[in-house]
Amino acid sequence: MGKPTHKAGIAFLALMLILSACSSPARTVPKPETLVTALPVRANEVHETFAKRNLMGHLEALQRVADESGGNRAAGTPGYEASARYVEEQLRAAGYNPVRQVFTYRDEDLEENRETFNILADTAGSADHTIVVGAHLDSVRRGPGINDNASGVATLIETARWIAETGVEPKNRVRFAFWGAEEVDLLGSQHYVDELSKSEISQTAVNINIDMAASPNGGRFVHDGDGSSFGDAGPAGSQGLESILLDYFSENSLPAEPTGFIGDSDYDAFFRAGIATGGLFAGDVGTKTSEQVQKFGGTLNQDHDPCYHRSCDNIENINQELLTEMGGAMGYATLAYAMTQM
Ligand code: PHE
Ligand code: ZN
Ligand code: ZN
Repeated sequence: MGKPTHKAGIAFLALMLILSACSSPARTVPKPETLVTALPVRANEVHETFAKRNLMGHLEALQRVADESGGNRAAGTPGYEASARYVEEQLRAAGYNPVRQVFTYRDEDLEENRETFNILADTAGSADHTIVVGAHLDSVRRGPGINDNASGVATLIETARWIAETGVEPKNRVRFAFWGAEEVDLLGSQHYVDELSKSEISQTAVNINIDMAASPNGGRFVHDGDGSSFGDAGPAGSQGLESILLDYFSENSLPAEPTGFIGDSDYDAFFRAGIATGGLFAGDVGTKTSEQVQKFGGTLNQDHDPCYHRSCDNIENINQELLTEMGGAMGYATLAYAMTQM
């Protein structure tokens, strides 16, 4: 009996050695304290800055796009193309060089293969530590998608412009990603992750996602990176992202709440690839509890976004205060990761 066990033990050790030799170099995972100390600005200053920035202007522009394109901005439609041109214009005006990453997908309604794309735009900084800041740009076919997810797109555009205007030199590369075909089946972010080599995966320090930033009856939800509330922690480093976002809210005396990773947005492909992830969410069809009314205000037992995936998800469906708060949180976390020595 002893001998086979011994042999199995040696075989097991040999296998572990081979596996550890093949695996990619360990990702740098900055500690929450390091992230905070890297910031050149305080959370309340960032909040004031974002309160003055024109987040609503981007929502108005994307509402116009939908109005002029048959009422939506869905994958494969003129509304998506016009949304993309708007984002690209904004990025170019801020000095970025946006690039389209094209992919094909199956449109089950049309029973056809179609092409669509992500838009990627990078800052300067070390590519060895890339920060992927993402929001989906497409809407559902049923409506203009202004909360879902023009709101997230607006926070990304303003974060990109803010970083460019302040003239800070990011130590780490920030890649702003506007995902395509999220509403089809999270396809753009999955395509992006699928295209990464092993070393590019290990060079991706974190993915910061934002999907629905201004729900009319919403809340300040932050993905539960450390698993303290929902048990299912994100990949190593996700707790740092949760912590820097919570830090922003607490520094501004704004209550926030963790939300679980349930595979329902573009963080999911990163999660499954073992890349630190998380981000911001203002709520969709979940109903508001009395605890949440105390924290966030709003209406008890009503959906966070009663217009979720409906034609009424238009400019009227926007919670402007929440939009400002989420925008500031996005700017703060992005800058923290950009400036942290990894
Ligand atoms: N949360 C996504 C959105 O509305 C939709 C979604 C739900 C995607 C469940 C995948 C799974 O943008
Ligand atoms: Zn949606
Ligand atoms: Zn969405």
